[in-house]
Amino acid sequence: MSVLSMLLAAFPKAVSGKLMTTKLDLSPTDILQQLQSLADLAIPIEMHQNTGYRLLEWPDLLLPEILEHYRTGNLGRHVLWHSSLASTNSTAKELGHQGVEHGTIVVSEEQTAGRGRRGRSWMSTKGDGIYASLVLRPQIPLSTAPLLTLVAGIALVEALHDCGLDAAWLKWPNDVWVENRKLAGILCELNSELDRLDFVVMGIGVNTHQQYFPPDLAATATSFYRETGYKLSRAELLMQVLQKIELLLPLLTQADQTALLAAWKKHDRLLGQKVYVTAANEKYSGTALGLTPTGALRIALADGTERTLLAGDVSIRPHD
Ligand code: BTN
Repeated sequence: MSVLSMLLAAFPKAVSGKLMTTKLDLSPTDILQQLQSLADLAIPIEMHQNTGYRLLEWPDLLLPEILEHYRTGNLGRHVLWHSSLASTNSTAKELGHQGVEHGTIVVSEEQTAGRGRRGRSWMSTKGDGIYASLVLRPQIPLSTAPLLTLVAGIALVEALHDCGLDAAWLKWPNDVWVENRKLAGILCELNSELDRLDFVVMGIGVNTHQQYFPPDLAATATSFYRETGYKLSRAELLMQVLQKIELLLPLLTQADQTALLAAWKKHDRLLGQKVYVTAANEKYSGTALGLTPTGALRIALADGTERTLLAGDVSIRPHD
C-alpha cells in the first residue's frame, strides 16, 4: 500500500492525511514525501483542509500502483517501473538472467534505444506509447517457443478490439496494423540453455498517444489516438494484454495447436493476399496461405509450389 494506491482507490474522492498515516503506518512527513514524489511525476493532486488529498484526474502513467489497479491475473504481479530506459527488453533480459519470477514486467515511460525486429529501432517518445517487456518462464519445449510471438500478437489485437479499435489486424509474425499502417510490434527474445527454454522476454510496443510521426514514419505508422480520436489509459490496455496472454499460454501445452492457430486466423488479414517477402538474402512474392502448426508462414508461388517462411518480413506493398 502507498499514498498513490489509496488515492487511486478513493478516486475521485479525497483521502484525509490522518487516514493515510493510520492505514499506512507512516508519519505525516513520510506522507508528504510521497505526495511530493507524485507531484514530481506531474500527477495533479488537490489538497483541501477539510477533506484531505484527492487526484484531480486519473494518471496516465505505467506506475506499479496503477497497473495493480487493473490486474486480474498473475502476470504483472511484480512491476519494475522506470521513467526512462535504453530498452525495456534489454533490462528484462538482465533481470531474467538474475532469476526474476515468471510474469515480472519491466515498463518505461520512454526508451532511448528502443529496439525492433531485425535490428531496427522503435520510436519510444515519453508517455506516447506502451514500452513493456514481460519475463516468462513457460514450461514448453524449445521447439514450441516461436508460437509465443503468436500468443503476444493475438493478445494484443484482441485487447485493442476490446478497447474499441476493431480495425486492428495481425501481420505475421507479430505486428499489429490498422489498414496499411503499423500500430504495434512485438519483440520476443529467447534465452535457452542447450535444448531447454530458460526464459523469454516478450517486448510489447504500442503507439497509443502520438498525434504526429516523424517524416520517415508518417506514411507507415499510426497510433490508437490517430485512429480513434481518444487517449486511452495505457495501463488499462497493457493489463488487458497481460490478462489475455495468461489465458492463451495454456494453449501452448496442448497436444495440438488448433485453438491457437484458429485465434490467429481470425485476425490474419494477409490470408489469401499477395505478399512480397524479404527473407535472409532473397526477395520474392506469392500468396499468403496462413500458418503451419509451428507458426511459420505458408506462401504459394506463381509456379504452383509452396514455400514456408520461418523468419523474415512480408509486405503488402511491392518491393522497391
Ligand atoms: C517490431 O515491430 O519490430 C518490434 C517492436 C518492439 C518494441 C518494443 S517496445 C518495448 C520493448 N523494448 C524494446 O526495446 N523493444 C520492445
